[in-house]
Amino acid sequence: MGDALEVLWDWSYEIEQSRLEELYVKAKREQWNADVALDWSRVVDPAGRILDPERMAFLRMDFFKGLSKSQMDGFNARYSAWVLSQLLHGEQGALMVAGQLVSAVPDYEAKLYVASQAMDEARHVEVFARYIRRLDRIYPVQPILRGILDRIMSSPFWQAKMVGMQVILEGLALGSFINVRAATACDLLRDALAYVIKDEARHVAFGSLYLGRGIAEMHPDDRAVVEDFALDATRLTLLMRRGMEGFEGFDAVLRESGIDPADFLKALYAEVAGGFQLASTPGSVHTFRGLVLPGIVRAGLVSDRVRPAYESARIEPFSDTALLDEIERTGALERPSA
Ligand SMILES: [Fe+2]
Ligand SMILES: [Fe+2]
Repeated sequence: MGDALEVLWDWSYEIEQSRLEELYVKAKREQWNADVALDWSRVVDPAGRILDPERMAFLRMDFFKGLSKSQMDGFNARYSAWVLSQLLHGEQGALMVAGQLVSAVPDYEAKLYVASQAMDEARHVEVFARYIRRLDRIYPVQPILRGILDRIMSSPFWQAKMVGMQVILEGLALGSFINVRAATACDLLRDALAYVIKDEARHVAFGSLYLGRGIAEMHPDDRAVVEDFALDATRLTLLMRRGMEGFEGFDAVLRESGIDPADFLKALYAEVAGGFQLASTPGSVHTFRGLVLPGIVRAGLVSDRVRPAYESARIEPFSDTALLDEIERTGALERPSA
């Protein structure tokens, strides 16, 4: 039985190697230069609709209807810059983790591929930093995101780095980029995201292709560490996305827009108590259900040992990989899907 499994994994390794090589060839072919590919002379309206409605859902609060136009315009620009700043910091994290992975992954093809990803991430850092300065300024990294990035950087296991970066944070980023691109009124951002999404789709595909075998081949004790890491990183990422932790640093946006953060919080609690809901937008990509959790399940990280911990954290381990498969097949997702 052990021999049969060995043969199976050897066979699978060959397949994965050629697919990794294809991914590397594709990465070389699809390199782009932001100076040439994007028309930076285009007018950007910082107060215009930059982000997707889901991210802006709280603007439907009565509180915002009471603000002046100049307050709202200032707030829109700053809030968009603040959200995009977090994506920028995530891109810098991806750049550094890709650099680490060049030396940490065991296979030649994987090293070549991940070196191409490091260049992709350098370009994303460049593009987001340039774009955000057209809106407002670059805001500091949220503590919870910094914590997740530090954990990924400091894990001794390349498998944990990959699950943290290629599956969780890049799954999250890819979903955000797809949703923002579908909704933004800014031509420059839409064009930039089209290029970035193609790159990110390759990064997520690399995680899918390479991680499963790496995890299957780990010593069970080490694999348990990576399983726990995945659960922990998912929990933190959900908190960042949905909890109040995700609003740390937001007070600067309010204050600089002439809004007292205490007034905002009071209004938020009152309106939520009165039935206000931050419902998700129909047609937007469900990032956790469609990208992050299926990636974790497919990598083999939701074992019987950790499954109860997912359940008690109320994280449903969705395993439908249709969206991931489509992204890997097409290299991007041109339309938002439910
Ligand atoms: Fe990126
Ligand atoms: Fe990436």
